[in-house]
Amino acid sequence: MNTIKISLLISLLYLPFFTSLSFAGDSFEGKQLTKRLCSGCHRFGPRFKRMNHSLVGPSFKSGIIGKKVGKSPKYKYSKAFLKAASDGYIWDEKNLDKFLSNPSKLFKKNKMSSFKGVKDPEDRANIIAFLKSL
Ligand code: HEC
Repeated sequence: MNTIKISLLISLLYLPFFTSLSFAGDSFEGKQLTKRLCSGCHRFGPRFKRMNHSLVGPSFKSGIIGKKVGKSPKYKYSKAFLKAASDGYIWDEKNLDKFLSNPSKLFKKNKMSSFKGVKDPEDRANIIAFLKSL
């Protein structure tokens, strides 16, 4: 009986570890994070009728995953981004994860470099899940 209890306890202790291993990103959490971390510079999603780039960063009416870098219409990107675009860079999950972890590193001297990035990989996965849902 006691062994059963103990093994149950042990498996409960390990549960968070196993769930975090299979972590795929939670778009609801991601939405909250983008509100907090990104909305000062970006607008995301179709509910923003006027995507007029009144903020510092480009706006995204629909998803960014799988799109070319620097393709939001009318936004004036930095030279660094224009170069990445002409090199054919795509925002796949890997590139976006790298960029968000440290924005100044992927493309040198880009205009998002003042943002220190999202250090927690789980937060980044959530943000990417949200961006995928748009
Ligand atoms: C301090 C302002 C600022 C913050 C905060 C910020 N960004 Fe940016 N972001 C920018 C700017 C400016 C650019 C354009 C970079 C350039 O042209 O060099 C950009 C570019 C991007 C791009 C690439 C856009 C494209 O069209 O290729 C993505 C994706 C992005 N940001 C996502 C995010 C996410 C997600 C967050 C929050 C976790 C965030 N940004 C936080 C200013 C910011």
